Amino acid sequence: MSLSVSISSSDPLSESADALLVCVYASALGEHPTIRALDRTLGGALLAHAKAVEFEGKPEQLLEVPALGKFKQARLLLLGAGAPEDFTSARQRSLIASGVRAAGQGAKSVVVVLPSASVDLRAIGEGVGLGAYRFTKYFTGERRPKTELGKVSVCIPGAKPSLETKKALALGLELARAVGIARDAVNEPPNVLYPETLAKLARQVAQAHKFKIKILDKRGILAAGMNLHYAVGQGSVHEPRFIHMTYAPRRKKKKVVFVGKGLTFDSGGLCIKPAAGMGEMKSDMGGAAAVLGLMAAVGALRPDVEVHGIIGAAENMPDAAAYRPADVFTSLDGKTVEIINTDAEGRLVLADALSYATRLKPDLIVDAATLTGAALVALGKSCSAFYTADDQLARSLDEAARGAGESFWRMPLLEDLAESLKSDIADLKHTGDRYGGSITAALFLREFVGKTPWIHCDIAGPVLSERAKGVLPKGATGHPVLTFTRLVESLSG
Ligand code: BES
Ligand code: MN
Ligand code: ZN
Repeated sequence: MSLSVSISSSDPLSESADALLVCVYASALGEHPTIRALDRTLGGALLAHAKAVEFEGKPEQLLEVPALGKFKQARLLLLGAGAPEDFTSARQRSLIASGVRAAGQGAKSVVVVLPSASVDLRAIGEGVGLGAYRFTKYFTGERRPKTELGKVSVCIPGAKPSLETKKALALGLELARAVGIARDAVNEPPNVLYPETLAKLARQVAQAHKFKIKILDKRGILAAGMNLHYAVGQGSVHEPRFIHMTYAPRRKKKKVVFVGKGLTFDSGGLCIKPAAGMGEMKSDMGGAAAVLGLMAAVGALRPDVEVHGIIGAAENMPDAAAYRPADVFTSLDGKTVEIINTDAEGRLVLADALSYATRLKPDLIVDAATLTGAALVALGKSCSAFYTADDQLARSLDEAARGAGESFWRMPLLEDLAESLKSDIADLKHTGDRYGGSITAALFLREFVGKTPWIHCDIAGPVLSERAKGVLPKGATGHPVLTFTRLVESLSG
């Protein structure tokens, strides 16, 4: 069953559902028509109880009240929306997501009452879809969820919602589904999702939206000259894939290429990682997942921007055939690269994918990669590092991220550190100084984009979340699909 969302201005109390979620501005409890109606039926007990437990409607403050069988909805939840002037699109998305996550527990249908009619319905739609997300396919028996949320009815006070309003809500839900594609792909275990099956998934996305798609297998990658990509994948029984999807509108204002790191598992290769936490490296295809999610979002939006989605997929494993430190390979654009540490595999796969992307002569290349632990050390687990030489592009990304409610921080391409990438026997070493590791990785990638305007996003932290909060579930987050989507929209002007 899939989730459907509707919107109306009718009385929320008249609609039967498993749960009623009422969002209310801080200190406006007594003025909220739905809360007043509930309170009346409960003989004044609702407002009295809210007061007793100090429920004031502060942001994300949640109060569940026994419905006592007095309403058409089995459960009653009040959710604080904070001050109206702070109720930005990002806050709305986040609030509705946590509300739907709480109210959707064991429910098939939920009625959501918004605090006012002046909201961003697209953000609300996104919030509903993101909050309803679950990854339960591997649960059996007792652990299998007995219900699935299938219906959310959004109620806004005042006039009947316009067609525009309905469209915005539906688009929001569609974009949340696109984020869900990225989340699913990252949550999927690496014995199920490997380069070949990732390519299958890409084919599905392409087919659903009628995109062109080209997939190169191991031999194709070698024949094309992507030796760095090939080297990373050569130690795994799961052969690498190179994926290129194209959305081409009839009239285009710009051309943009998104490139995703698709390491379906990163053991470190011969420079093997410690056992603790190695399992997290199933998320090392988070950049690729974001490209898939973005392409699905593009399919829903159909902007007048040509969008290419490129994924370099491989599994990094130790093996007799694995690549090794001291090996030298020639990249797609002809540079020789000395391998230093086989655990720095992502930048190798990306280097060839970026060279390929420049050949498409785009106005912009954006890459996303779970590239370095150093990005986590620098910015923590919930913020992505991004790099670009172009201040205008940096502003565009900042703005897209703010609208999307995702966290990004611009980092410097420090020229001083570039020296550490000089090799004694080849054009480049592929790792530099340990300090500033996210920066040296970015500087390495820069060698492969030429003069094409470029933004590099090191998303190592935010692809996973340790706990459910706001739009984020525990596990895969789908970051940065929403930011990239907004960036594409901004290019269309
Ligand atoms: N996929 C990892 C980066 C990573 C680490 C992502 C932790 C998410 C959480 C990447 O391939 C890697 O191993 N990078 C090395 C580079 C080093 C060997 C220069 C790192 O960051 O330690
Ligand atoms: Mn690695
Ligand atoms: Zn990696």
